[in-house]
Amino acid sequence: MYSLTLLSLLLVSVLTAEALPTTTTTADGLNYTFPAGAHWPDPLPITVNNYSYIHDPSMIKRQSDGKYFLFSSGNSVGILSTDSLSGPYALVGSLLSNSVAPPGEAWAPDAHYENNQFYCYYAISTSGSQNSTIGVATSDSMDPGTWTNQGKVLSSNTNDTYNAIDPNLFFDGNNTPYLSFGSSWDDIFQIQLTSNLSATAGSPKQVAHNATKNPEIEEGSFVWKNGNFYYLFFSAGDCCTFSASNLPAPGGEYHVVVGRSESAHGPFIDQAGVPLLQTGGTTILGSHGRVYAPGGESIFTDTYYNSSTSSWQERDIFVYHYVPADGPHPYNTSYADLGLNGIDWSTGWPVLTELQV
Ligand SMILES: *[C@@H]1O[C@H](CO)[C@@H](O)[C@H](O)[C@H]1NC(C)=O
Ligand SMILES: *[C@@H]1O[C@H](CO)[C@@H](O)[C@H](O)[C@H]1NC(C)=O
Ligand SMILES: *[C@@H]1O[C@H](CO)[C@@H](O)[C@H](O)[C@H]1NC(C)=O
Ligand SMILES: *[C@@H]1O[C@H](CO)[C@@H](O)[C@H](O)[C@H]1NC(C)=O
Ligand SMILES: *[C@@H]1O[C@H](CO)[C@@H](O)[C@H](O)[C@H]1NC(C)=O
Ligand SMILES: *[C@@H]1O[C@H](CO)[C@@H](O)[C@H](O)[C@H]1NC(C)=O
Ligand SMILES: *[C@@H]1O[C@H](CO)[C@@H](O)[C@H](O)[C@H]1NC(C)=O
Ligand SMILES: *[C@@H]1O[C@H](CO)[C@@H](O)[C@H](O)[C@H]1NC(C)=O
Repeated sequence: MYSLTLLSLLLVSVLTAEALPTTTTTADGLNYTFPAGAHWPDPLPITVNNYSYIHDPSMIKRQSDGKYFLFSSGNSVGILSTDSLSGPYALVGSLLSNSVAPPGEAWAPDAHYENNQFYCYYAISTSGSQNSTIGVATSDSMDPGTWTNQGKVLSSNTNDTYNAIDPNLFFDGNNTPYLSFGSSWDDIFQIQLTSNLSATAGSPKQVAHNATKNPEIEEGSFVWKNGNFYYLFFSAGDCCTFSASNLPAPGGEYHVVVGRSESAHGPFIDQAGVPLLQTGGTTILGSHGRVYAPGGESIFTDTYYNSSTSSWQERDIFVYHYVPADGPHPYNTSYADLGLNGIDWSTGWPVLTELQV
């Protein structure tokens, strides 16, 4: 009887503790309180040899030799490669030559294999500016030095309602190519591309907007089809302007949001039924444990050998960056790590899972 009461008390306290916000003390003695309900899985432990700024990562596996290529903001779009998802990842070069990138910085790569070659979209801009350009480079192998810059796909200036950054290529139900893009101003848009994937056709259409204040940050959009639905992911909140001594209110930092639609062009609706055009969006990944301000997400399909079934299988991998709350530079946005998780699509909504390699 006594032990049963104790057990139920313990159970109640465990359950209550789960629903309460959690506080983490970081290396510099600062305490950060994470929001309640943060039950997201930890990223795969990885090692990175010589790159401390993974931002807006895009990943793709080269089928010819099984090598993974990881593209990141910074370093004129850094190219990292590895033989295993757990690393070691090593910086092997840049997408763009340094003479191409300035003025501004090269951001937010988006890599694909189409038409028997590799495409990598990127954005050139400066922080807070609408003077932005999305460009694309192509290669037969992805190796550094093999990329040909095809130049501008789309640009924006202060007369536009959008900001031409954070590109993502996707194909709609008619197999017509589109770019999803945008950040702040009127947030997320999509525009049709020509069949060579290097020029636009038509005009941009808005697909997600946060009307709380203008501009409110929605960026890093990514479109992915699973089953009967197209999912529109984006990052919301503060990605980069904080430091350990000046953190946003909990929940105001970067986190990943999703909505879905049976059409690649929307209307996208979140899990509570709110349209993404009307400030909707279901959070699928936020700060938890040592993972702070996750965002800049993308997805790729990995092929891997499953030894328990002795066969090659496919799985979708969720790729993002986060600012570690521990380590030598807690919460410093100049240092960011690569996050990798699996995705369970069985409920019709993406649920992140721990990744095994
Ligand atoms: C953080 O929490 C620890 C443990 O509760 C406490 O000792 C420390 O003073 C706190 N640090 C700050 C900056 O509040
Ligand atoms: C990063 O490490 C790899 C091997 O681990 C090496 O080949 C490469 O030159 C290094 N790059 C830089 C920029 O240090
Ligand atoms: C954007 O470009 C316009 C015209 O080219 C210029 O007047 C403006 O200062 C630029 N803004 C920024 C933030 O670079
Ligand atoms: C914005 O539009 C005005 C009026 O059409 C034009 O004079 C100006 O050059 C445009 N600005 C840019 C940066 O294109
Ligand atoms: C792609 O097609 C457009 C429209 O036909 C053309 O203007 C552009 O030069 C082409 N780009 C490349 C890289 O082939
Ligand atoms: C919209 O902006 C508000 C205010 O910043 C924020 O609390 C909310 O999480 C945002 N919602 C989405 C879906 O981005
Ligand atoms: C291997 O396949 C089995 C059976 O489909 C599955 O349960 C297991 O999760 C797979 N292993 C990994 C590492 O995904
Ligand atoms: C974050 O790291 C950068 C690069 O090392 C450094 O310049 C900056 O001062 C650091 N910020 C803080 C708040 O420590």
